[in-house]
Amino acid sequence: MSVERISILEYKRIVLGVTGSIAAYKAADLASKLTQAGADVDVIMTEAAARFMTPLTFEAITGRAVYTDLWRTASGESLPTHVAHVGLAEGADLIFIAPATAQHIAKLAHGFADDLLCITALAAKCPILVAPAMDGSMYENAAVVANVSRLRELGMEIVEPEVGRMASGMVGRGRLPEVGVLLGAARRALGREWGALRDRHIVVTAGGTREAIDPVRFITNRSSGKQGYAIAQAAVDNGAHVTLIATPSELPVPYGVELVTVESAQEMLEAVLDCTADADALIMAAAVADYRPEKTAEHKLKRTGGVLQLSLVPTVDILATVGERRAETGRPHVLVGFAAETSDLLKNARSKLERKQVDYIVANDVSQPGAGFGADTNIVTILSADGSSISLPQQTKSAVAEAIVQRVAARLQTVPRRHEPESAEA
Ligand code: CTP
Repeated sequence: MSVERISILEYKRIVLGVTGSIAAYKAADLASKLTQAGADVDVIMTEAAARFMTPLTFEAITGRAVYTDLWRTASGESLPTHVAHVGLAEGADLIFIAPATAQHIAKLAHGFADDLLCITALAAKCPILVAPAMDGSMYENAAVVANVSRLRELGMEIVEPEVGRMASGMVGRGRLPEVGVLLGAARRALGREWGALRDRHIVVTAGGTREAIDPVRFITNRSSGKQGYAIAQAAVDNGAHVTLIATPSELPVPYGVELVTVESAQEMLEAVLDCTADADALIMAAAVADYRPEKTAEHKLKRTGGVLQLSLVPTVDILATVGERRAETGRPHVLVGFAAETSDLLKNARSKLERKQVDYIVANDVSQPGAGFGADTNIVTILSADGSSISLPQQTKSAVAEAIVQRVAARLQTVPRRHEPESAEA
């Protein structure tokens, strides 16, 4: 999998600390993905890490010097200054220690300063992410548990290890997560530091709803959920707390997102009303069924050979309901809808914008190649309640997501964050 450039990672300085674990090979993949995404990655390897992976591997991947001790780079050059740790720490936007052994977790928890990685962490002012990797029984050990919670108290964030098969052959919690998860953790940590949606709560819906005919059958549509998931990721990249209300899907849930799984339009309505009462924005990317079977059969319908007639009744319009509630309560501050059309795109979209009382409608002609359901790209026009509109060329759903999220952030600029005094409104 190659990675496209990721705005929140572009030009960020990331110190990747690699300690002596068999999982160090995953750090090479992480260094590669971070570099491809646009980050400058400075790798610090401990002596034990250099037994599992060669510094040359990381040098080749990052195109930068790799640091293995306090006095010289891995390729033997003297450091420009004897205070390399201060330089690395000061220039860093993020320190990510992955994998982190029990030994290094203990050292970090107690402020040890006997290797370059520990000293750099001590000197740092930026966020520090720690991804433990060790045997399951070690991770459960009371001393390790205490050290991990000490790291949390010290303000470091732990990327929880996963349950799985270890190098020892045993199964337990201690596996370093896959690189997609590690990359997601880095995105969230940087978003919380730099993003325009820090301290905001954004609710996103995704996927096509399922309207049950009987216990085994349902009516749905072609929505893949990809655009909604991409919006959830873009909101995390911008530092938001994100609730994703989605129908069942195989798509990976972006790191840090709170997922609420629903099936029917009615379940989605209830979840949306519940989650948006106090939210800053709702982005309705879901393809909600307009009709559902009037009755859901209690038992599987049997084939009779004759004509089967289904009687369909309208579902509640979720977006319009939230629009009405906003008119009374003022929450959520920003409402974004989608308009999936196959004809009269702008006319239909403008009428939805007005009817549903939203701030933006993202209109796409789903019959065009490279747009709409299932595709990895989209071609959209974003219509605004102020009468303006902007047409975006064909681009990835991630780029479309970023464009939508930027507009939401701009709109929220004048709205105080919950912990800010009202005077911040000016
Ligand atoms: N929507 C909703 N609840 C529904 C139907 C749609 O909240 N019961 C939302 C969608 O999530 C989308 C927007 O309304 O953000 C427009 O959805 P769309 O299906 O394009 O429009 P409809 O209102 O269903 O109108 P039509 O089917 O006539 O095009």
